Amino acid sequence: MKILMVCLGNICRSPLAQGILESKVHTDRVYVDSAGTSGYHEGNLPDPRSIQTAKKYGIDITSQRSRKFLATDFDMFDVIYAMDESNFEDIIQLSRNKEEAKKVKLILDELSNEDKNVPDPYHGGDQGFENVYKMLEEACELIASKLN
Ligand code: 4NP
Repeated sequence: MKILMVCLGNICRSPLAQGILESKVHTDRVYVDSAGTSGYHEGNLPDPRSIQTAKKYGIDITSQRSRKFLATDFDMFDVIYAMDESNFEDIIQLSRNKEEAKKVKLILDELSNEDKNVPDPYHGGDQGFENVYKMLEEACELIASKLN
């Protein structure tokens, strides 16, 4: 099983989603990666606030580097989780057929709550990162429970 987490910059939300899910699955059976729709931060480490928040919960995301989502990711991954509806639309635009489009899901659709979007914390304070972490922790717990 191969799962890809996608946000805009691949430095704030999706690196956290990758780290959290990796901490909950058997990584020899489940491969998790992340990417950004923009490529603005290609090659960069996750945002220091994401690194710090993950560290607080015992997760190290410092081996991750930002990369751009590519249409060829549809060949590699079974499920592609978008962090928000804007990312979702951008990924769908790159799909080449219905089978590829069907791989794309909103990560919060895993939960039966009202929120559809993991809010972009980039321009906010540390509290935004804590909030994002909690949302992703809950979603990844459910995803992992179905995989393990
Ligand atoms: P992310 O957050 O999509 O969660 O990684 C962002 C990071 C950078 C930018 C926007 C969102 N940016 O505009 O550079």
